[in-house]
Amino acid sequence: MLTEQTIRKTLKFVLKKVDLPSLKSKEQGKVRDIYRVGQRRILITTDRISAFDRVLGYIPFKGQVLNELSAFWFDKTRDIVTNHALAFPDSNVTVAIEAQAYPVEMVVRGYLSGVTSTSIWKAYENGERIIYGIKFPDGMKKNQKLPHPIITPTTKAEHGQHDRKLTEKEILAKKIIKAKDWKQMKQAALALFERGSKICSRAGIILVDTKYEFADYKGKLMLIDEIHTPDSSRFWKKETYLKRLKEGQEPENFDKEFLRLWYAHKGYIGDGEPPKMTEDLIVKTARRYIAIFEMITGKKFIARKYPVLEEINKNMEKYFRLPYK
Ligand SMILES: Nc1ncnc2c1ncn2[C@@H]1O[C@H](COP(=O)(O)OP(=O)(O)OP(=O)(O)O)[C@@H](O)[C@H]1O
Ligand SMILES: [Mg+2]
Repeated sequence: MLTEQTIRKTLKFVLKKVDLPSLKSKEQGKVRDIYRVGQRRILITTDRISAFDRVLGYIPFKGQVLNELSAFWFDKTRDIVTNHALAFPDSNVTVAIEAQAYPVEMVVRGYLSGVTSTSIWKAYENGERIIYGIKFPDGMKKNQKLPHPIITPTTKAEHGQHDRKLTEKEILAKKIIKAKDWKQMKQAALALFERGSKICSRAGIILVDTKYEFADYKGKLMLIDEIHTPDSSRFWKKETYLKRLKEGQEPENFDKEFLRLWYAHKGYIGDGEPPKMTEDLIVKTARRYIAIFEMITGKKFIARKYPVLEEINKNMEKYFRLPYK
């Protein structure tokens, strides 16, 4: 694990954005800078961190962690569904197949939990017993494991908007996704979640919930975006889960929940100008991202040397000189 001191030294070099001089037409997501080159999509994962649907600051090594962790998972799941990754020419870059994304985020949940308006716990707490079209019995406890993982799809929100809950019925009735494709997506999402839970479990982690994005590529289902990262998933510590559940305590988490709590503590819950992240919070967050990488992959995180912009440029130039198959 990187020392706090090493992380502190990189603070002034964090990767805020990447402008590749030889390429035009950049798109910007909250976390990734994206270029389209022919049939390829160049996804550069920066150190930007988002919560409350906005960018809050920069976390050293976060881009590398996310990119390398996704690469790990793509490899571990390619027998379940093909994925968009073609090459990883740089620790922060995935070259992917540009595909037609389905307009639905496939959220899979193994536990009755969550804090946001689309979470199942918020709905359950408010007395709803049919959530996302799925029936829930009375008497369930917060953070309890569900009898089996469920799919709670949401819309993929436009910039600045919030995701909206969907149901299978609505997706099919409005023909948002064709029935045949939807069936495949469900199967793939559940199989991915099962594989993810198993691998996490061996590492002492509970995969609580996660989000997948799929696309249609030449008539075949393809997994795109990122997979089982701390940005797209929530993780709990397995060891203390049951004890804490019994005692009515929140599980120990490895996700961004502590960040939201820090903001809530400062009186910020998503409206107006967010308070500035402190150096301590940034360092702590970096260590969390690195820790989750090391636990899941079972490998030591080999941190790249900051600043990284020049090296990214060089690696990309090298990649584009290769003949494209
Ligand atoms: N292979 C692919 N083909 C097409 N689109 C993709 C592919 N892989 C990822 N994407 C899209 O690229 C974007 C990745 O950028 P990023 O993760 O920064 O976005 P975000 O913060 O999640 O959300 P937003 O796109 O709303 O800003 C996402 O919109 C994702 O849906
Ligand atoms: Mg994203």
